[in-house]
Amino acid sequence: MIILGIETSCDETSVAVLKDGKEVLSNIISSQVEIHREYGGVVPEIASRHHIRNIASILDEALLKANITLSDVDYIAVTYAPGLIGALLVGVSFAKGLALGKNIPLIPVHHLKGHIFANFLEQDVPLPNLALVVSGGHTNLVLIDEEYRFTNIGGTLDDAVGESLDKVARILDLGYPGGPVVDRLYYKGDRNFLPLPDPRVGKYEFSFSGLKTAVINYVHRAKSRGESFRIEDIAASYLGKVVDILVHKTLAAAKEYGVRGILIAGGVAANSLLRKELREKAEALGIPVSFPSIRLCMDNAAMIAAGAWYKLRAAGNEKEKIFASAELNGIATLPLERDL
Ligand code: KG4
Ligand code: ZN
Repeated sequence: MIILGIETSCDETSVAVLKDGKEVLSNIISSQVEIHREYGGVVPEIASRHHIRNIASILDEALLKANITLSDVDYIAVTYAPGLIGALLVGVSFAKGLALGKNIPLIPVHHLKGHIFANFLEQDVPLPNLALVVSGGHTNLVLIDEEYRFTNIGGTLDDAVGESLDKVARILDLGYPGGPVVDRLYYKGDRNFLPLPDPRVGKYEFSFSGLKTAVINYVHRAKSRGESFRIEDIAASYLGKVVDILVHKTLAAAKEYGVRGILIAGGVAANSLLRKELREKAEALGIPVSFPSIRLCMDNAAMIAAGAWYKLRAAGNEKEKIFASAELNGIATLPLERDL
């Protein structure tokens, strides 16, 4: 079974070909990060324009690399939510055109479920599982049961983890996106340099804006007093604290819900400290931790095709129910549980 995946929810245009739910025949990712860097973040209008310009040639490249034609495609999967609305619409409209023109069923996929299913492409993931979803736009703890049903048990009250890392990096003049730079600087700094407060939130809630403000205040105060500090120490203190919080809450939830495994999903799943600390601490409790390879942590279409494959599996004999009509639209904000 061949699924063609299409992803355009943010600043990566991607098309992938997935065979039998596991074998990635191609996964072409065109990142616009260099274009948005000069603005210090993603500019939605520019992102949409680049998706429009690139998507047809990326489709050609994905088919060529997989050595197939559109006639070999059984299903088309497209990210329809959540994301930048203009960016989503490019992928959704393109996918609808292909599906109608070639008479191929179209399956709408939730972007965060895609990030979660990226894990299933490379390893066996035991169920029930607890997913820690950490991206530029989201921070959630999600339970996945044996029937691949999703229940959100916690999330952030303000900034997402990736967003807060990017903001702290901007204060430190580290450029965009900040997450990967902070990841590298951590190892050159002292994580105990700047003590940061524990956010006062519910058991499985997160809040990162207070931590970020504490960093901004420290930097401003030091600069106004003419005191010097090492950027590495600030980056290490911030990342160390954020990872502590993520690991602590994820382990507490894993124990309470008695899951058989934990997975990390989303762009921040690429973070080396988070991968190491969560794996070491969970495995000491006998809970295995999975995370995708770095390429599959970033936005990509193979994970969207994987999301469609599991949706088909869960639908059993009622596959038609999950197919999108020509009315399918992009949706900017959509909790996991309200996925189509
Ligand atoms: O999932 P993603 O590609 O886009 C969204 O769906 O939001 O996540 C992007 C986020 C950015 O905030 C980026 O700074 C962060 O992932 N990120 C990292 C690392 N690589 C990317 N954060 C920490 N460490 C990394 N190595
Ligand atoms: Zn993403």
